[in-house]
Amino acid sequence: MKAVIKYFSGSGNTRHVAGVFGQKLQEQGYTVSCESIETGGLDLTPEDLLLIGGPIVAGNVPEKLIRWVLHEVPAVSGGKALVFTTSAGLENANGVHSLTRKLLKKGYQVVGQPVFQMPRNYYFGRYQPTPPEEQLRLVKAIPGEVARALEVMTAGSMPPVPQGAGKVLALDLMAELFSIMARGMGKKLTSFHDDCTICGRCIRECPQQNIAKRPGGGVVFQGKCMLCTRCLHNCPVHAIGYDGVKYEQYPGPVTLISQV
Ligand SMILES: Cc1cc2nc3c(=O)[nH]c(=O)nc-3n(C[C@H](O)[C@H](O)[C@H](O)COP(=O)(O)O)c2cc1C
Ligand code: SF4
Ligand code: SF4
Repeated sequence: MKAVIKYFSGSGNTRHVAGVFGQKLQEQGYTVSCESIETGGLDLTPEDLLLIGGPIVAGNVPEKLIRWVLHEVPAVSGGKALVFTTSAGLENANGVHSLTRKLLKKGYQVVGQPVFQMPRNYYFGRYQPTPPEEQLRLVKAIPGEVARALEVMTAGSMPPVPQGAGKVLALDLMAELFSIMARGMGKKLTSFHDDCTICGRCIRECPQQNIAKRPGGGVVFQGKCMLCTRCLHNCPVHAIGYDGVKYEQYPGPVTLISQV
C-alpha cells in the first residue's frame, strides 16, 4: 500500500498537516511519499492513495495548486484521493470542493475532504494574529484530527458530497482574481534593507521566484507574488514587512511544538 501526499504550503501549516498524515498512514502500513508541489513530479500508480492539501486563500486553495491539479495529476479511473485544507477559520474553507470536483473529473473516488483550523499567517491591516496559546492549541489538536479523518475515510461513513459546477466555477474565478490581486498587493512587501544580511533564504524559497537581491543591500519584490507570506515569516533576521510595517512573524507549527 502506498500513499502519495502532495501539498502547497506558504508558512508551514499545510506542510505540517501533510507530515502528520504521512506519519499516521505509515503507522497503518502504508509506504508514504510526502512532498511539496514545488519539488519533484508525481509518481503515482492506480492503486495508490493520493492526498492533496493546500491553505485557504480568500476562500479557496491558491490558484497555483489548482493549476497543478489540472495539469499534473493524471486521470486514474477509480483511484482513491483525499483532499484537505488548512485555514484560520472554517466558515469559508471551500477549497476541498474545488479540488474534489477536479479529481472526480479525472476519474478519482474522493474518500475524504477534511478541513483543519490552524493559526492565521495573514494579519496585515484589520486581521489579528491568532493568540499564542490558541496557536499552540490548534497545532496540538492536529494529530487527533488527522487520525479521525483517516478513521472516517477507512469506515467510508461520511462520503464527500461534491458541490455543483456553478459553485466551483465561482470559487475558481475567485482564486484567479485573488492571484491577480496578489501580484499587486505583493508589491507592498517591504525589505528593511539595513537589517537584511543578504542570506538569500527568501530568494531561494519564494515559490514564485519573485525576490531578487537589491544593489546596495536588501531585496526587491517583483510583480509575481502570490502572497503566501513565506518570505515574511521565515526571514531569520525579520527584515521583511508589509506596507512599511514590521508585523510579528508567525513561528510555524514545528517551532511552536518545539517550544513546549
Ligand atoms: C493571502 C491569504 C489569504 C487568506 N485567506 C484566508 C481565508 O479566506 N480564510 C481563512 O480562514 N484563512 C485565510 N488565510 C489563512 C491561512 O489559510 C492559514 O493560516 C493557513 O493555515 C496557512 O497555511 P500555510 O502555512 O500552509 O500556508 C489566508 C492566508 C493568506 C496568506
Ligand atoms: S531572508 Fe531576510 S536576511 Fe535573508 S535575504 Fe531575505 S530579507 Fe535578507
Ligand atoms: S514574495 Fe510573495 S510569493 Fe514570494 S515568498 Fe514572499 S509572499 Fe510568497
